[in-house]
Amino acid sequence: MSMHSRYIWMDGELLPYERATLHFLTPALHYGVGAFEGIRCYSTKEGPAVFRLYDHIERLVQSARVLGFRSLPYSVDDLVDAVRLTVRTNGFTECYIRPLIYLAGGGWNLNIDGGRAAVGIAAWEWTNYLGSEALERGVRANISSFTRHHPNVAMTKAKITGNYANSFLAKTESVRLGFDEAILLEPQGYVAECTGENLFIVKRGRIVTPDLAPVLEGITRDSIVSLAHDRGIEVVEAPVSRDQLYTADEVFVCGTAAECIGLREIDHRVIGTGTMGPITKMLQEEYRAAVHGSHMRSQSWLTYVGEAAAVPARKLARA
Ligand SMILES: Cc1ncc(COP(=O)(O)O)c(C=O)c1O
Repeated sequence: MSMHSRYIWMDGELLPYERATLHFLTPALHYGVGAFEGIRCYSTKEGPAVFRLYDHIERLVQSARVLGFRSLPYSVDDLVDAVRLTVRTNGFTECYIRPLIYLAGGGWNLNIDGGRAAVGIAAWEWTNYLGSEALERGVRANISSFTRHHPNVAMTKAKITGNYANSFLAKTESVRLGFDEAILLEPQGYVAECTGENLFIVKRGRIVTPDLAPVLEGITRDSIVSLAHDRGIEVVEAPVSRDQLYTADEVFVCGTAAECIGLREIDHRVIGTGTMGPITKMLQEEYRAAVHGSHMRSQSWLTYVGEAAAVPARKLARA
């Protein structure tokens, strides 16, 4: 995967890719004090469009507030404009977008008030997060030996950079064991989520998903719930036990990077028929239609990036 692009937006300027660098003593690097988003831009008949951009930027700002930043240098509208500018200037029709708010200076006494928030936005071309076969065949998962954060240990509603050490532990273990993805249990032992996706089970035509308390409030999760409701499928939030996974008709996960993907095997147990189940398939197709602008929900969920117009001079850093 190449993460290369022409420009990266940093604090109001579009810098050439090679110049978007930070000092070794940037405190965010040492203490994980940052908040980020993962967003995607898709091609549509009307041009490139970002999926649920406002929702992502609002979650980014909320994550920064949860982390303790009292003020940020940019508003939600500023950041939405900056994302659109970054995609447009790079000339991408489809890409992954990574905004990051981070502690750029100060804070060495572990007090965020002593530091300053800075913001960067990168974008790069990226398609299949869990591999090209995953969308069609589904993937194999294990229950991680690592527990998901307790909500009062690390704030599970916020995409705080430091929280993702937990995802790294689980995902690395999972891949080393020969699986594709890890499922994490919350401290009580019920199913929480995967390292970067929310999880659903299907049993007798009804969908069940863990309640939001210990997990990230996924924007894809919310979209999938809406798409299921549109099709008259009941979705219930309830505790999900490990053995409910094993006995489900279908299990699927969803997230911005992974989209909507079936789990065909968990802990060496085949799930359902071992292929993508009909409800997973239907929701995967509806989701793909929504992100590509051909679903009745698309208009309210897509923000078009606009023409690849000239970038205002004040926004382009001198190379
Ligand atoms: C831990 C975790 N859960 C769930 C998700 C899915 O969230 P979203 O659908 O907003 O991408 C993500 C991805 O950001 C994640 O990192």
